[in-house]
Amino acid sequence: KHSKKSHKEGRGSFSGRIGYVLAVAGSAVGLGNIWRFPYLAAKYGGGIFLLVYLLLTVSFGYVLIMSETALGRMTKKSPVGAFASFGNSFPFKLGGWLNAVIPILIVPYYSTIGGWVIKYLAEYLKGNVQEVAQDGYFTGFITDSFQTELWFLVFAVLIFIIILGGVRNGVERMSKIMMPILVLLAIVVTIYSVTRPGALAGVKYFLIPNMKNFSFMTIVAAMGQMFYSLSIAMGILYTYGSYTDKDMDLEQSTTQIEIFDTGIAILAGLMIIPAVFSFSGGNPENLQAGPSLMFITLPKVFASMGIGTAAGILFFVLVLLAALTSAVSLMETCVSTFADEFHWSRKKCCVFMAVVMIVLGSASSMGYGALDFIQIFGMAFLDFFDFLTNSVMMPLAALATCFLILRVVGFKKISEEIEQSSSFRRKKLYTVFLKYFAPICLIIILCSSIANVLG
Ligand code: PFF
Repeated sequence: KHSKKSHKEGRGSFSGRIGYVLAVAGSAVGLGNIWRFPYLAAKYGGGIFLLVYLLLTVSFGYVLIMSETALGRMTKKSPVGAFASFGNSFPFKLGGWLNAVIPILIVPYYSTIGGWVIKYLAEYLKGNVQEVAQDGYFTGFITDSFQTELWFLVFAVLIFIIILGGVRNGVERMSKIMMPILVLLAIVVTIYSVTRPGALAGVKYFLIPNMKNFSFMTIVAAMGQMFYSLSIAMGILYTYGSYTDKDMDLEQSTTQIEIFDTGIAILAGLMIIPAVFSFSGGNPENLQAGPSLMFITLPKVFASMGIGTAAGILFFVLVLLAALTSAVSLMETCVSTFADEFHWSRKKCCVFMAVVMIVLGSASSMGYGALDFIQIFGMAFLDFFDFLTNSVMMPLAALATCFLILRVVGFKKISEEIEQSSSFRRKKLYTVFLKYFAPICLIIILCSSIANVLG
């Protein structure tokens, strides 16, 4: 079987479909699901946002996941090698490296936030449920560069330990252990949250469509979120696709990954929105807090609960698992690119990435404290890297993938790749979407998110 062969040749591979689905789900389910999705849903119309999001996931999201995974599996390479398999000229190099550089830029700042999560977890474990809920606690913490750097390093060390284990013993094994725990925790916390007094109003607010809030921005925000949440355009799906067998059913796996990711996002909404409603006596204003929801609003909610310490521990363990599996997928993609392109050993790739992490990650983690005099376009390092990757580079990287298929690879080869393992049931949808909608959607995302930041 192919997996055994490539395993022997030194290129990693997943042991089968379950390992693959859990690893991709681990990548997809991350900070994006837990804090980004709930506040966007609350802001852009509740149920109507959810509906638009679901429609986009099964169409646009499906097309991009299938494209990247099929290209990865076809070429058995991470993004740079995958693009290079079809041509050697500059556009192919640019397309490949654009996809490959994104995880290198994201993983340092993602790990900074991962460090914040460990810090909060540590405080809850110490029983400091009231302290972390105090006004100014979060600001005090992120401006204390010694603290943020320390916790960032703890998170980074955890990632490297898993990555050094390899694809099967590291990435796959971690996903198989952590993802079921994550689902269980999500269900427990959700049940607790929706049964708080006054929580039902929050459930309604989240699930029932409110046309008053519907606008063009609902679609744009849902589109951006879907992109972010499904780990599209970060080289990850090329890389994980390259670790799969020719006989693995890509279409079925993609469907399962989408259900997993969307399911956890909905649970996160049910976890956070009703709890905040219950806490604030039905006032949804607290939900508009945006990114600070998780580190400022929720700790206040926990502090007001009888079992706030336990709730805080369960919640932050859940967030930590989600963040770790996502960060590992980003790091694995970086390692895979260097191994493919420069034929470095896994260890050497890790040493190189450790240097990148220390430079860029420290910049991010000290960006609100010791380094706050440095601003790029008025943004701290972390916000700048987030903007650069998510708003500018990722839509361009996805456009590169679309053009690669439309202009060079062709639908025939992609269908053959997919049909090796199963029927290609959504072929019509795939073709129409890739040809007409995907490029337009990507250009809209690009323009709107740049306008958002500049305006
Ligand atoms: N898809 C993951 C999440 O939703 O958190 C991981 C991720 C998203 C990583 C976006 C990086 C990123 F820019």
